[in-house]
Amino acid sequence: MKNRRIKIRDILKSTKPGTTVKAKGWVRTKRGNKNLNFIALNDGSTIHSIQIVVDVPEFEDNILQQITTGACISVNGTLVESMGKGQTVEIQAKEIKVYGTADPETYPLQKKGHSLEFLREIAHLRPRTNTFGAVLRVRHAMAFAIHKYFNDRGFCCLHTPIITGSDAEGAGNMFRVSTLDPECLPRTENGAVDYSRDFFGRETKLTVSGQLEGELAALALSEIYTFGPTFRAENSNTARHLAEFWMVEPEMAFYDLTDNMDLAEDFIKHLINHALTNCMDDLEFLNKMYDRDLVARMNSIVDNNFARLTYTEAVEILKKSGKDFEFPVNWGCDLQSEHETFLVETHFKKPVILTDYPRDIKAFYMKQNEGSKTVRAMDVLFPRIGEIIGGSQREENHEKLSARARELKIPEKDIWWYLETRKFGTAPHSGFGLGFERLILFVTGMSNIRDVIPFPRTPKNAEF
Ligand code: 4AD
Ligand code: MG
Repeated sequence: MKNRRIKIRDILKSTKPGTTVKAKGWVRTKRGNKNLNFIALNDGSTIHSIQIVVDVPEFEDNILQQITTGACISVNGTLVESMGKGQTVEIQAKEIKVYGTADPETYPLQKKGHSLEFLREIAHLRPRTNTFGAVLRVRHAMAFAIHKYFNDRGFCCLHTPIITGSDAEGAGNMFRVSTLDPECLPRTENGAVDYSRDFFGRETKLTVSGQLEGELAALALSEIYTFGPTFRAENSNTARHLAEFWMVEPEMAFYDLTDNMDLAEDFIKHLINHALTNCMDDLEFLNKMYDRDLVARMNSIVDNNFARLTYTEAVEILKKSGKDFEFPVNWGCDLQSEHETFLVETHFKKPVILTDYPRDIKAFYMKQNEGSKTVRAMDVLFPRIGEIIGGSQREENHEKLSARARELKIPEKDIWWYLETRKFGTAPHSGFGLGFERLILFVTGMSNIRDVIPFPRTPKNAEF
């Protein structure tokens, strides 16, 4: 039988000593003397590298010289029990092939311990580091667990459009999508740009959320979710904002706000638990290198109920706190991160779900509470992250919904299709959006959102 490559993860987990194995990967380090060389080889299938033992006299000099940090090699050899501490097996090399060299003079990851800022400047190479290997594997595990969670519960995965003609969310500035020549824009008689001559025959943008389309499907399939990229052209250069981020948006017919909160809490605990059960090697590394409390914090989320209270109650707590906030708290204001941090980290010491926000600071589609100026919104606030989920029960009453859209000057021609679902077989329904990168921040202990997505898009940054 052909001697096929085995992933290092599988070699370390299940291959018996004495077996002939072929491993392929990238050299992390090479050390040794004129008789013996030790190569740490990593193929990204696990945080652990496998040690390759090389009897120097058995190999040609020019092959061994090419094996430097960053080079890509294939090794055929025998798996033997390891004498070294911290590893169970190693490969005694018989044949080595060099696929690609990495000149030690110019390879940027020659040494360990580069700053995360430096690594952002070499986003094309940073997956080769232990840190980004760990983050990307955890990210994958979370994406997989999200699909599995919903699939197991009968939710239908809905692919909502990325290019959209509506900005009903009001979530901020949008990126334009156009094939018009900016040097020579077609104009209407009154001088405005004539988008009827554009590709779609109308003005189009990149979506900020798949929710509105998600609602259409929920009012037919009962329970759906979207999981896709969303785009916001806000100029916010913070450690929590991206211009392109991924969002998970379940939308459920017949759910009220309490059902929505129950699902959100169960969902997020399930994901954290999945990481604790399936990604421990990577979490241990991240815990050691970046965040000494990571695993303990994750366990405490899974083991405790989230606090649930209204926005109005939260404002009372903040006012009574006696804390001198930079932004004073008043009923009606949007809560700032200092307020969220106080509630989550100082007052409740656990995640908090705030509900029933003033309608003036929330989107037009949220269900209006009778006789008050609040809507059935819910935000889930997390330690270190702030808002990780935003959602609501939706206004299912056609009249109230259209009236609110008019008040907010949302043109009916942009959302007539959305409003029609309230005309034909409307139903109570709810949903929420989980910021995928904010979840990844939480489960990796990283502190900057640019370090949990392979190629971050932020103001003035789209090189890789
Ligand atoms: O609160 P948001 O704006 O809610 C919506 O878009 C709704 N349509 C969701 C729904 O009900 N279906 O965004 C949802 C979440 C936030 O809680 C946050 O975690 C994340 O998306 N988020 C961002 N993540 C990274 N960068 C940004 N610029 C983000 N803006 C929001
Ligand atoms: Mg929000």
